[in-house]
Amino acid sequence: PEPAPEHELVPTEETIAPVLPDGPSEHPSTSYVLHVNGADRPVSDAWIGESLLYVLRERLGLAGAKDGCSQGECGACNVQVDGRLVASCLVPAATTAGSEVRTVEGLAVDGEPSDVQRALAACGAVQCGFCIPGMAMTVHDLLEGNHAPSELETRQALCGNLCRCSGYRGVLDAVRDVVAAREATAEPVATAPDDAEPRIPHQAAPGEGGVQTHEGDVR
Ligand code: FES
Ligand code: FES
Repeated sequence: PEPAPEHELVPTEETIAPVLPDGPSEHPSTSYVLHVNGADRPVSDAWIGESLLYVLRERLGLAGAKDGCSQGECGACNVQVDGRLVASCLVPAATTAGSEVRTVEGLAVDGEPSDVQRALAACGAVQCGFCIPGMAMTVHDLLEGNHAPSELETRQALCGNLCRCSGYRGVLDAVRDVVAAREATAEPVATAPDDAEPRIPHQAAPGEGGVQTHEGDVR
C-alpha cells in the first residue's frame, strides 16, 4: 500500500484532545475542606475519586505518608481519621471532609519529634526509612488505646506495616522503651494508704436532724 501522505500524520487538535459528547463527566470534580493536623486545608476542583493519600501528598504538600502499594497492603500511608488508623490510599479524600485527619507531620510536639519517633530512631528501626511514617502512626495509635501492650499485642498491631529493612526488632524495642519512659514519668495517682481509717460521714441519730442544739432551744 501507498504510505500515508505526510500531511495526514500531523496531529490535529481533535486527535490530541478529542471533544467528548455532551453528558455527565467521567471524572467529576469537587471542592471541599480537609481538617489536617488542626488546620483547615481547602481542596479545589479535585477529582472526586482522589485518595486521601494522593490529596495529602500531591495537593497539600504533606509528603510524610508514603505510597508503597496503593492497595492497602503495606501500611506506609497510614494516618488517623477521627482517631482511627486508616490506610489513606484506600480512603477517598472527599469522604473525610469534616473529619479530623492526623498525619505523621502532626506527631511532633513543640517542633520536636515525638517520643515514639525518637525511640524508633534510637532503637535502629529506621533503615531506609520508607516505612517509618506509617510505622510511627501505627505505634501512636496502638499506645493511645493500650498504654502497656504486650509484645504479642505490639506484633499484632504492626502486622499491617511492612518493613523490608529492619526486621522489626528495633520497632518492638522502641515500643517497649516508650512504654517504660511514659510509665517512669507518669504522674502518680493519689490513692489512700491501705491502713487508712475509712472516712464515714457523721450521721445524726434518727429524729435529730443535722442541726446542732443550743442551750435555750425549745425542743
Ligand atoms: S500505600 Fe496504602 S497500604 Fe500501601
Ligand atoms: S526501614 Fe526500610 S522499609 Fe522499613
